[in-house]
Amino acid sequence: MDHLPVSFNVRDKRVLVAGDGTVAARRAEMVLRAGARVELFARRPGPDCESLLTHPRLRHIPRELALEDLEGAVFVFAAHEDEQADGRIEALARAAGVPVNVANSAARSDFIMPAILDRSPLVVAISSSGASPILARIIKARFETLIPSAFGRLAGFIGSLRDEVAARLKEPGARRRFWERTIEGPTADLLMAGDEAAAREEFRSELAAAGDDNSHLRRGEVFLVGAGPGDPDLLTFRALRLMQRADVVLYDRLIGDRILDLVRREAVRIDVGKLPRKHTLPQHEISQLLVELAKDGKRVLRLKGGDPFIFGRGGEEIEALASEGIPFQVVPGITAAAGCAAYAGIPLTHRDHAQACVFVTGHGKDGRVELDWKTLLQPRQTVAIYMGLSMLEALTEAFIERGADREMPVAVIDRGTRKDQKVVTGTLADIAEKVLDADLKGPAMIIIGTVVTLREKLAWYLPEPSGARGRLAQAAKTAPAVTPGEAE
Ligand SMILES: C[S@@+](CC[C@H](N)C(=O)[O-])C[C@H]1O[C@@H](n2cnc3c(N)ncnc32)[C@H](O)[C@@H]1O
Repeated sequence: MDHLPVSFNVRDKRVLVAGDGTVAARRAEMVLRAGARVELFARRPGPDCESLLTHPRLRHIPRELALEDLEGAVFVFAAHEDEQADGRIEALARAAGVPVNVANSAARSDFIMPAILDRSPLVVAISSSGASPILARIIKARFETLIPSAFGRLAGFIGSLRDEVAARLKEPGARRRFWERTIEGPTADLLMAGDEAAAREEFRSELAAAGDDNSHLRRGEVFLVGAGPGDPDLLTFRALRLMQRADVVLYDRLIGDRILDLVRREAVRIDVGKLPRKHTLPQHEISQLLVELAKDGKRVLRLKGGDPFIFGRGGEEIEALASEGIPFQVVPGITAAAGCAAYAGIPLTHRDHAQACVFVTGHGKDGRVELDWKTLLQPRQTVAIYMGLSMLEALTEAFIERGADREMPVAVIDRGTRKDQKVVTGTLADIAEKVLDADLKGPAMIIIGTVVTLREKLAWYLPEPSGARGRLAQAAKTAPAVTPGEAE
């Protein structure tokens, strides 16, 4: 290890920054955030420095830094980005015995600045010991996605309650187990979900029940999580976090292996998948199972395709939980209409085409199409139909019978957002026949409206049925143009 990472308390201490440009401004900003008093030696502050000059803890000194300025300073940044000017500051700092950081030179610096992920009071610092600040920044960006901003809130919450827990639980092992449970349990979930009052209440009841022997029972809970239409990149941070915490996962047919692989490895998996006309587990039994597992103290992940509240029966499942007083939270997901449309290059609304978009289900009872035609046949509107593939012919005929234009563009997006996505485009008059030839496997979305024509220009996602990941449009410049009516 070339450098020792330490967390330096600079609150109300003097930190000097010498320089006029962006690097000086960034250094000053960083130490101001940590509560320091900054003296900025800048003869001609540039725009980035100028915007800091009104900060109450920043003093602008419009001259060169001198030796006597260094007295009592905790450290100094030589941030001119000019070898000679920064060399001068370095020499002064060495004469005064004040640690110095020289911009762009780890070798001449007493300390270096890591890339900082600030989730105060949680702070993650990533340093490459000066070897590659860009690599450190890229790694920081990865951590950004792993550590949601709510973790900062959680760290602050825990900090404020440490004494209370220490007073009640004397035994260090019991304290550790209590905190582990709290950080992994409903208290943290409520806090991360933004409900601090409920988190405090939950915390108090857990602490009241806790003893040094930790003999009290853990309470179960349910996470109703939308997993999006298939591409794992479309999961939300919260979905991923809860997937990593489940003891049991109940998932359905729309959840692909690539998403299931992200669920905590130790979690018990229960496939409650519903195939069309072959329900493996009736809805009321799924709800009942959720209740029983949670009552048994389990953290239950109910993983659903798309969004749980859009044709997902998520509402029914949490009604059962609510009536039993079982804690739950709901994580929205990208619904199939939005995901499929985006990956097919079809904006669902567009100023020149559609001012509205309606989501409907084409899954009628006994093969009959039962839709609210008055709502569906409005002009300048897109209709996104879920669960309509098996009824496509009946649906399109019904649209035409009720007065829709036979030439109205239609897209059928099969396995949207996935590596094997297929898109068939046509019109109300001919789409059913084209789909027959395309060997679609489902699930599929039907999109009706003139927005479909925009795909000719806007298609960007190239699925690769051979298994490699879809590439972006730039790569497609050499590929054959996408023409309506083709299955790709
Ligand atoms: C029971 S609904 C569930 C919808 C889900 N809750 C949502 O918000 O997307 C199932 C229907 O969603 C659509 N669907 C889900 N995932 C899809 C995908 N990857 N590609 C195309 N359609 C999809 C299909 O119409 C399928 O029949």
